[in-house]
Amino acid sequence: MPFLSATLDRVKPSPTIAVSNMARELKAAGKDVIGLGAGEPDFDTPDNIKQAAKAAIDAGKTKYTAVDGIPELKEAICAKLKRDNGLEYTPAQVSVGTGGKQILYNALVATMNPGDEVIIPAPYWVSYPDMVLLAGGEPVIAEASIQTGFKLTADQLEAAITPKTKWFIFNSPSNPTGAGYTRAELKELTDVLMRHPHVWVMTDDMYEHLTYGDFEFCTPAQVEPGLYDRTLTCNGVSKAYAMTGWRIGYAAGPEKLIAAMRKIQSQSTSNPCSISQWAAVEALNGPQDFIAENNKVFQRRRDMVVEMLNAAEGISCPVPEGAFYVYPSVAGCIGKTSAGGVKIDNDETFAKALLEEKGVAVVFGAAFGLSPNFRVSYATSDDALKEACTRIRDFCATLT
Ligand SMILES: Cc1ncc(COP(=O)(O)O)c(C=O)c1O
Repeated sequence: MPFLSATLDRVKPSPTIAVSNMARELKAAGKDVIGLGAGEPDFDTPDNIKQAAKAAIDAGKTKYTAVDGIPELKEAICAKLKRDNGLEYTPAQVSVGTGGKQILYNALVATMNPGDEVIIPAPYWVSYPDMVLLAGGEPVIAEASIQTGFKLTADQLEAAITPKTKWFIFNSPSNPTGAGYTRAELKELTDVLMRHPHVWVMTDDMYEHLTYGDFEFCTPAQVEPGLYDRTLTCNGVSKAYAMTGWRIGYAAGPEKLIAAMRKIQSQSTSNPCSISQWAAVEALNGPQDFIAENNKVFQRRRDMVVEMLNAAEGISCPVPEGAFYVYPSVAGCIGKTSAGGVKIDNDETFAKALLEEKGVAVVFGAAFGLSPNFRVSYATSDDALKEACTRIRDFCATLT
């Protein structure tokens, strides 16, 4: 009898963590490595949020809480959804978990039966397919292309739907591409979903506040109120409030689904950290103006990175609407050989040779389901980005 669960055979270890580990090893060996793999803002959690956490500790808010969130946080989430998205939810329709990741996982575990399909547009956040597999469902990958700015078209969504489809996972702005759907583009998708009443929408709005220029964020239940009863709107404080380590994510949706998610959480993690929940209340109810300030920095970096990467031979980099990632194509480099003698036959060999020969760590596109590309996170200093892009340009210039 095998000791380990057969479920483990269905999933793979996180490729983004593997890249970070390799970069760390090279750094430890004394190599000058610039990491562009980080999935978190490089600025600190705002002070008012830290103070709220300290006050919570001093006030003894250090015990178990209600399973899926303290009432104060649920109220703050309802107010946020009304303020930012025009969506009406009651606290009973809200679930708070240990990060956006746990919220998505709870929802999948609560709903997957053998054979259930989940449509995931590629390029996708690395965890979606594996979470579906862990929950016992079948990921169905619908590949978007660089020609449509990495956005799924209505026809592609329609073609992916079968009688077994349970969820459509939607993520805008996206990790790894930064692509954000306009209201019109999203409406085309929601029109398709209106024709298939058995399909539910799991929208991951984690990068809602990180958008640039005149792009306006919108979320499925807002664009198509007809989908409200079968939409789970997921979000969190990790990215916009620089709170990745605090582990607070949340979702709003039909009460029955929220209750099922609560049941799973009650038998796994009990409740998200009490102190972090009070910090999140302050994040959502407190001043929001620092977000626009941070976005000015992110936008400046995005523009610099896109310009420098497009100047590199064989690389083509679209301008994304949001998040802190770009997802350039290396189609023009495939088939060439690096100065170190590595034949670049796919994006994985490109990223490996770039790391070994130039000390720049990026995540290869195959990890996100669309090749030949790589993901750059520009959530790092201007100087590091400039140096990394210069090295990428040099690397490409010496390919033969
Ligand atoms: C698209 C997307 N969704 C969800 C998450 C998970 O966020 P959290 O840190 O709140 O678990 C991430 C984190 O990288 C993400 O990129």
